[in-house]
Amino acid sequence: MFECAVWATVKGKEWYQADDVAAEYDDKRFSEGGRFIDRREKAAVVSALGPLEDKRILEVACGTGRFTVMMAQQGADITGLDISGAMLAQGRQKAKDAGVAERVEFMRGDAARLPFPDDHFDAVFAMRFFHLADRPVTFLRELRRVSKGQVFFDTFNLESTRVLYNRFLPMGSRLYSRTDVESLLADAQLDLVDESHDFVLPYGFYRSLPRSVARPFRKLDLAVGNTPVGDKLASVSYWNTTK
Ligand SMILES: C[S@@+](CC[C@H](N)C(=O)[O-])C[C@H]1O[C@@H](n2cnc3c(N)ncnc32)[C@H](O)[C@@H]1O
Repeated sequence: MFECAVWATVKGKEWYQADDVAAEYDDKRFSEGGRFIDRREKAAVVSALGPLEDKRILEVACGTGRFTVMMAQQGADITGLDISGAMLAQGRQKAKDAGVAERVEFMRGDAARLPFPDDHFDAVFAMRFFHLADRPVTFLRELRRVSKGQVFFDTFNLESTRVLYNRFLPMGSRLYSRTDVESLLADAQLDLVDESHDFVLPYGFYRSLPRSVARPFRKLDLAVGNTPVGDKLASVSYWNTTK
């Protein structure tokens, strides 16, 4: 079974509980060159889950509500769940500032035991979560259980430039091979509908650069990504699945 095959130290569940980590989360990752990442991730989510109008959606590990708020703005009936009160506090403030607080429900909870009945949501998704997951099959089965059909998530890739810094990340970070993901989907009884792969240059590279410096690198990255070897070199994969 996949969960027995590979494992690394995981601190993600604890790391994001700290107020200072939550307060700096967006700024550290999605300002300057990191904006290219935020934009790409949001496009991946909207492309997979849209149209969003009146769709009942659960976002697992919603963090500071980057996607939650965007989806509420686009008309979704969205619930964001996260285990960190500090991250959720950032999300609630963001929803208030965006004027969509009444359209979003933020809940504290564990992705391993989602407090919803079977088939409750039209779609369920989790971004930047599975690299923190100590029990990925358990989590993916829970996402599947509460969805009527669609489950969307991303992974960071084993054979990619992310290996250069992955082991030094304080919150722990798990990388997946394609075989790992296929095994995970089989164990969770999910079928792959669609996939996309991006970022030959890893996220950590972009977020360390000013936006103007990052821009030409992003163009180069996209150009390489569009070649036949691009998918193999990508550091991030987006997986659109169904039950
Ligand atoms: C890297 S952040 C990603 C946040 C958001 N999805 C994003 O992309 O900006 C990972 C999030 O997973 C949450 N998390 C970790 N373990 C969790 C669990 N067992 N159940 C729910 N949330 C969890 C953390 O609190 C944190 O907010």
